Amino acid sequence: MRSSAIIAGAFAPAVLAAIQAKNVIYIVPDGYGQASQTMARDLATLVDHAGDVTRELAADDMVRGLVRTWATNNLITDSAASGTAFACGFKSYNNAVGITPDFQPVGSILEAAKLAGMKTGLVVTSTINHATPAVYASHVKHRNSYDEIASQEIGYSHPLGPMVDILLGGGRCYFKPKSESGSCRKDDKDLFGFAKSHGFHVMQNRSAFDALEKGLGKIRLPYIGLFNDDGILDQMKYELDRVLDGDEPSLLEMVETSLNSLHRATHCKKKGYFIMIEASRIDHAGHANDPASHAHETIMYNKVMDYVRKWIDAHPDTIMMSAADHECGGLTLNGYRPLALKDVTRSREHLETVWKNRPSGADSRQFLVSEILPPFGLASATDAEINTLLQASNLGNELVSLLSKKAGVNWSTGGHTASDINLHGYAAGEMGKELSLVLSGHHDNTELPRIVEKALGVDMDAVTKLLRANGTNWVVKRDFDETHIVDEHNH
Ligand SMILES: *[C@@H]1O[C@H](CO)[C@@H](O)[C@H](O)[C@H]1NC(C)=O
Ligand SMILES: *[C@@H]1O[C@H](CO)[C@@H](O)[C@H](O)[C@H]1NC(C)=O
Ligand SMILES: *[C@@H]1O[C@H](CO)[C@@H](O)[C@H](O)[C@H]1NC(C)=O
Ligand SMILES: [Zn+2]
Repeated sequence: MRSSAIIAGAFAPAVLAAIQAKNVIYIVPDGYGQASQTMARDLATLVDHAGDVTRELAADDMVRGLVRTWATNNLITDSAASGTAFACGFKSYNNAVGITPDFQPVGSILEAAKLAGMKTGLVVTSTINHATPAVYASHVKHRNSYDEIASQEIGYSHPLGPMVDILLGGGRCYFKPKSESGSCRKDDKDLFGFAKSHGFHVMQNRSAFDALEKGLGKIRLPYIGLFNDDGILDQMKYELDRVLDGDEPSLLEMVETSLNSLHRATHCKKKGYFIMIEASRIDHAGHANDPASHAHETIMYNKVMDYVRKWIDAHPDTIMMSAADHECGGLTLNGYRPLALKDVTRSREHLETVWKNRPSGADSRQFLVSEILPPFGLASATDAEINTLLQASNLGNELVSLLSKKAGVNWSTGGHTASDINLHGYAAGEMGKELSLVLSGHHDNTELPRIVEKALGVDMDAVTKLLRANGTNWVVKRDFDETHIVDEHNH
């Protein structure tokens, strides 16, 4: 397999041949563009380093190339089409999960790693059955087939059985049967029950997560931990809100725990691991045009990048690659004043809920001034600004617009853009230099999993053959039920 991969490399075969890693860590900052990084860096610099603008964030140091992201039916991609490209190596249409435009399943790099005897993980802050994690372990026509994606991800209805050894994120309600309280499934499949009977340790809250003892305790693979099912989209909390509420693990904690677990499960074996980590909510804050949350989710991504770089220095048989799926929000920093974001302690999402649930007898103006404006960094709003906020048909829109104006940033859209995105990579020593050569320049997103495939010596096309071995009607049959679509942006 490896020798044919070398021969197949039409360019720089010596360089490609040199990248051989035992483990791959793949990090997706969903919806992250170049302006996201600048905005986060300048804010972090002010807060942590007293305005020393010579400081870098971790991702700055690891930029290696650029990636183009188009989908087959639109120059602006969504996470599903882009994910299908960077997980499986094939272009598809927006909403497609792990299939080509003719509805044929294609194997992912995670599935290829699993079938080669490696351990695998998906660690995200969205729901675990959201498009980006979905493309690694499920194959459906439409990303909104949330029930079916969850069923495939845990192995219940995946033709090849359980493919993922660690699943951490939000979306708990999709794993409970309809008859159980807190379920959001339309059927009576008990996926937590299925997981338990297939050897998974199941966690549903922060204290159960803490019992993992950072992956160093008694609990071993496989495990699934889902920590949220409130909120409109069942995501995990924004980092700003999580820090204050303290009831969910952070992305960094989940990463640390997963890497320890994967390392323990593989370090004395020949076969290593593949893990996909997603800083999912950079994108959601972009859709919401919420500048402070966008920056803080991006700062968390950089903390993960820093942790992983140190991890690789200590475990040089591991490489990291990282690229967004697309930019989101069309963010520009046309008069950026990061100090305006310094006092923001809550997300737009959280404050909209607080506003919606205000006591029925409460004085709106007073409530806005005391409960909403201070945590959104707008304590010094003028009377005229408060009047505008109170008259707005959508308070959330008006809040982010006022904060963005004060911070001197502009959003050109509440959706994605077609801009190219940064490609990052890291490996220790000589391999680091070789990886830089491989990643340098401009890539189509479909090339990215092929680089991982070569590095690990696994075979995605073999997975595709297996997925199609007994016909492919299962992809089409298990389509989503349109009545179940909640009102949401195309993330
Ligand atoms: C957390 O989940 C465990 C089961 O895993 C349960 O026993 C415990 O009561 C839960 N704790 C909270 C605070 O809900
Ligand atoms: C962009 O930001 C500037 C400065 O805050 C503001 O004056 C302008 O109206 C904004 N433009 C758009 C299109 O929002
Ligand atoms: C295909 O069907 C055969 C016969 O039922 C079964 O043994 C095999 O496991 C199936 N393979 C896949 C990949 O579904
Ligand atoms: Zn999005």
